[in-house]
Amino acid sequence: MRRGSILALLGIGTLAGGIATAVAVLLPWFPDVASKERARIDFTFWFVIAICILIFAIVAAVLLYSVWRFRAAPDDNSDGPPIHGHTGLEIVWTLIPTVLVTAIGIVSAIVLARNDALGSNVLKVNVTAQQFAWSFSYPEAKNLTSGTLRLPVDRSVLLTFTAKDVIHSFWVPEFGQKQDTVPGLTTTLHITPNRTGTFPVICTELCGLGHALMRTETIVMTQAAFDKWLKSQTKAAGSQNPSVSGAAVFKNNGCSACHTLAAAGASGKVGPDLDKLPTYASTAGKPLDAFIRESIVDPGAYTEKGYPKNVMPPFASLPKEQLDALVQYLIQSSKKG
Ligand code: CUA
Repeated sequence: MRRGSILALLGIGTLAGGIATAVAVLLPWFPDVASKERARIDFTFWFVIAICILIFAIVAAVLLYSVWRFRAAPDDNSDGPPIHGHTGLEIVWTLIPTVLVTAIGIVSAIVLARNDALGSNVLKVNVTAQQFAWSFSYPEAKNLTSGTLRLPVDRSVLLTFTAKDVIHSFWVPEFGQKQDTVPGLTTTLHITPNRTGTFPVICTELCGLGHALMRTETIVMTQAAFDKWLKSQTKAAGSQNPSVSGAAVFKNNGCSACHTLAAAGASGKVGPDLDKLPTYASTAGKPLDAFIRESIVDPGAYTEKGYPKNVMPPFASLPKEQLDALVQYLIQSSKKG
C-alpha cells in the first residue's frame, strides 16, 4: 500500500471518529446521575459507545476511501474483477467482533452483579402501583404511606413492587433503572441514591387512560432530614387533631399532584378544584360529607363536568381514621375557600 493511501485512510478515519465523538460527548443525551447504579450503567454505555465509534471510524474510512479511489471511469462499462473471498480477512473480521462482544458481555455481567448487591443497613420501601398513582410505604416506620418517594442519600434502598390492577413500570431517569410492576408477582429494584435533590417518578408502561398522569416525585435527602421527616409523619398520622392528620393524609397520598386546594397550597389542574367542593356537591345533589367520601373511595361514581372520567384511582383501601380525617379536612378547607 502506498504511503498516500495510508495517510488518506487515517485522515478520513480520524475525521469521522472525531465528528462521532463530538456528537456523543458534546450533546446532553442523559439526565443527571443520581445513583451509584446509574453511574455503573453509564460506564457500560460509554464503553460500548467507544467501541462503536472506533468501528464507525474504520468503516467510514475504508468506505469513503474506496468509493473515491476505485471509482469507475465514466466510459468504463466492463465488469469488475471476480473476487473469491480472503480467508485471512474473514478470520480477522470474525475474531475482532467476537472479542469485543465478549468484553461487553463481561463488563455488563459485572455491572449487573454489583448493582444487585445490597449494601448494609438496607432501607425497605413497599411500592404500590395502581391506575393511576404510586404510593410508597415504609415498614420501618409502621408502614407510613406517602405519595412521594422520600429517600436518604448514600443508603442502599430496596423497593418491592406490587401492582393492584395492570402492569405498570417504575422509572426515575436519574436513577437509571426501570422495573415493571406485575399483578400477582412481587418485583424488586435496588437503588443507592448518591445525590440529594428532587427527581421525577414516571410510569413507563402504557396502563390506561391516565398513564401520562401517573407521575410523582422522589426526594433524596440527607439521612438526618429523612429521619426527621419519618418522625414528623409518624406523629402526624397518629394525631387526634383532624385538621393536622387530614392535611397529612392529603399530602401523603399525592392529592396535590392533580387537585387545587388553597389550604394545602396545592394547585394541580388535572382533577376538580377542591376549593369548589360545596358547589360540586350541590350540582351532584348530595350532602357534602357523603359526596366527598364517595368521591375518594369510588371516584367513578360522579365526574364533575369538564374533567376526565376514571383517571383518579379509588382510595378504597385508605384506613378508616385516615379517610374520616381527610373528609373532615376537605369539608373545613373547601368551606373556607
Ligand atoms: Cu401506570 Cu402507565
